[in-house]
Amino acid sequence: MYLDLPGGFATQVAVLEKLLPEYLPASNWLLLGEQAVRSIWQSCSMPEPPISNWVNTSEETKRMETILPWLEGWAARGVHRKYTLVALGGGVLTDMGGLAASLYMRGIAWHSWPTSLLAQADAGIGGKTAVNLDSGKNLAGAFHHPARMVIASDFLYSLPLRHRESGKWELIKMSLIDGDLDWARSLLHCKTPDVSDIKRAVQMKADIVHRDFKENGERRLLNLGHTLGHALESASGFALLHGEAVGLGALAACLLSESLDAAVFPPDFIKKMAERLAPLAPRVPSWELCLPFLRRDKKTESENELRFIIPIPGARPVQQKISPEVLETIHAKLLLMLNIH
Ligand SMILES: NC(=O)c1ccc[n+]([C@@H]2O[C@H](COP(=O)([O-])OP(=O)(O)OC[C@H]3O[C@@H](n4cnc5c(N)ncnc54)[C@H](O)[C@@H]3O)[C@@H](O)[C@H]2O)c1
Repeated sequence: MYLDLPGGFATQVAVLEKLLPEYLPASNWLLLGEQAVRSIWQSCSMPEPPISNWVNTSEETKRMETILPWLEGWAARGVHRKYTLVALGGGVLTDMGGLAASLYMRGIAWHSWPTSLLAQADAGIGGKTAVNLDSGKNLAGAFHHPARMVIASDFLYSLPLRHRESGKWELIKMSLIDGDLDWARSLLHCKTPDVSDIKRAVQMKADIVHRDFKENGERRLLNLGHTLGHALESASGFALLHGEAVGLGALAACLLSESLDAAVFPPDFIKKMAERLAPLAPRVPSWELCLPFLRRDKKTESENELRFIIPIPGARPVQQKISPEVLETIHAKLLLMLNIH
């Protein structure tokens, strides 16, 4: 099935119940695939082109050094400008594959085949590609739209539970951006999100990205939970998964909303979020460890002001600049809530 995207948006999106080869490029394509999903690919009789790389990825390997040998390999095998890269894997692989495609010969086409919940709901679409630097998350990257995104629910059955839970936080983030508390509640309570949740998140993201590709305004809303989230993820040395850090950042944003008198979230909702996040408490880094990463975040324009996306129940979030001191009190409140529940 195809989702209709707003006019002119360049990514064609297919949501499949079963993996099907007809969604692959007709010719001149190469595959960059995640080892963890190779057996599923093969069991569905999906083809492997002559130039195929199966790789192991993790947040620690999301670095420029990982990409360079891929580019050298493609050049040695005669990959030319008319080739299309199919990037098959979680968000780390689609972010790195997209960046490699943007760099190779100044840009070849690519298709994203996201295989984790987080990548299907968020990372696989939108054209942001990146690797991490020592100074922080996703600090080297490019905007490069995939020409096609193919979501197949086949992949989610083998996804480890922790990664499924982690991916759910990006969906909850989307529900908060939509101001739809009922949707957020249903996601908080469900075991596995439905494919309709993924479609709704993808459609929302596609609409926002279509209106503001280069993140000059509305697209910033997609960073809800990410200002603190990225700092927590990096400062934890990646002991926190990306989605987990976004979940913690989203709870902090809800608490911030209350402390700034922007809006009050129902106490049972905040309690449920804290309950779901409480097992992560031992991995949450101290404020002192987070602060340097917050100062180096791409979204930070001044050392003394952090740009924050503040959710409002029943409405779209607002953007506000806040001081590190205010955020420090929220970080302390967050820790308290996680340890109580
Ligand atoms: N580009 C964007 O707009 C965007 C948006 C959100 C997140 N991201 C990025 O996405 C990354 C996180 O992505 P992630 O949560 O997918 O993590 P990930 O890519 O590390 O994948 C999680 C783990 O699951 C494995 N895996 C993936 N699919 C599987 C499957 N179907 N079955 C079994 N194992 C599978 C992977 O090998 C990996 O070990 C972060 O680096 C984040 O910065 C990018």
